[in-house]
Amino acid sequence: MATTFSYEGKFSTRSKQTAVSHPRHAIYDFAVAYPPPEIVPFDGLVEGLRKGLEREGHDLVYYTERNGNEALREFTAQKLLDDRGISTTPDQVFMTAGSGEANYVLIKALSDPGDTVVTEQYVYVGTLNQLNNHGVNAVGSPIDDDGLIPEALDELFTDLTAQGKKPKFLYTIPEHQNPTGSTTPTERRKQIIEICHRHEIPILEDDCYVDLRFDGEAQEAYASLDTTGMVMHVASYSKLLVPGLRLGYFVAPDEVTSRAVGFRSSGTANHFASLAVEGYLTDYLQDHKDDLAESLGPKANAMVASLGENFGGTGARWATPQGGCYTWLTMPEGTPMSDLVDEAFDAGVGYLPGSNFAPNGDGQNCARLCFAYETPEKNRDGIACLAEFLDGKGLMKSAPAD
Ligand SMILES: Cc1ncc(COP(=O)(O)O)c(C=O)c1O
Repeated sequence: MATTFSYEGKFSTRSKQTAVSHPRHAIYDFAVAYPPPEIVPFDGLVEGLRKGLEREGHDLVYYTERNGNEALREFTAQKLLDDRGISTTPDQVFMTAGSGEANYVLIKALSDPGDTVVTEQYVYVGTLNQLNNHGVNAVGSPIDDDGLIPEALDELFTDLTAQGKKPKFLYTIPEHQNPTGSTTPTERRKQIIEICHRHEIPILEDDCYVDLRFDGEAQEAYASLDTTGMVMHVASYSKLLVPGLRLGYFVAPDEVTSRAVGFRSSGTANHFASLAVEGYLTDYLQDHKDDLAESLGPKANAMVASLGENFGGTGARWATPQGGCYTWLTMPEGTPMSDLVDEAFDAGVGYLPGSNFAPNGDGQNCARLCFAYETPEKNRDGIACLAEFLDGKGLMKSAPAD
């Protein structure tokens, strides 16, 4: 008998080696996807949990309703109505292990390996991995500073359909997009809804970042603009509160939900965390959103100002976000941001390369920069450090202004 069992030849064809350990933190860590750590309301969550346990702690010995804790579903249905104009019932809200699980069960309910799904040109790497792992071919549709370009989407749908690859659905992150930081204006959303109806392609709307706005007005949710059931709406408590809660949710027509349920990875969403979230947010939702905005605004402004000071006149472009966690740096064509990740890390700056988010294989000259995690001062200094690093590589040439 061998002393070490070998799994050679036993892995699924779609499995691939992925780092299991915790990611490293750079001195200036712009690679992460966290909301501001300093405003996580630990005391409020403990207090909320205490209230919840007193009320229904005995129920923790059972598996809760399949769609999750009732009190949190009631709260969530009301939040969707108040914040997003989405009219739903607590029974239609389905709680999941983060919005990641919500996306995955919907992907599996709606697509088979070999199918095609359309996303933004650059898209959250977690969803891209889920699509790839499920054997789905993700195709990115062109974007500009306002997100998906309706005319280009229409054309892409037509082309893919003509090639026999009619998309199973459109996955979009319309508010403070990950990774580009863009928000799609309501008027564009209406156009996109019309296009999707014409092509009979449903929309999976990922509204994960909607609570993280510090400037301007939220745009109307696809799921409130369309009332035919064509839109499936996903959101999360990870970004509003903290990812470690592992609580997200989706709302979809019953015929979709009843198929998605079978793909969930475990029995129910975290009941213990649900008590804490409902207990805290019932009293403090608006206060907490205000705290978030107060923290995020100066952080984003510091990063954007430093980009202006250090990258202005080099031909680089960057997003000026109104919320969320990210800005998106586009260096002149040919700047190898993807190849420089490790060296930049050693120089002090962590970022994620644009190519990580690119279904179409582009984005090598781009980087996603998270402004939410570090302080405003570190955001300012870290961008200066990145510029110095790139300058040392001869990559900060001055370019004529457009
Ligand atoms: C757009 C988007 N959707 C979903 C997720 C998954 O988050 P969670 O599962 O923690 O809700 C993320 C996390 O970064 C995200 O950016």
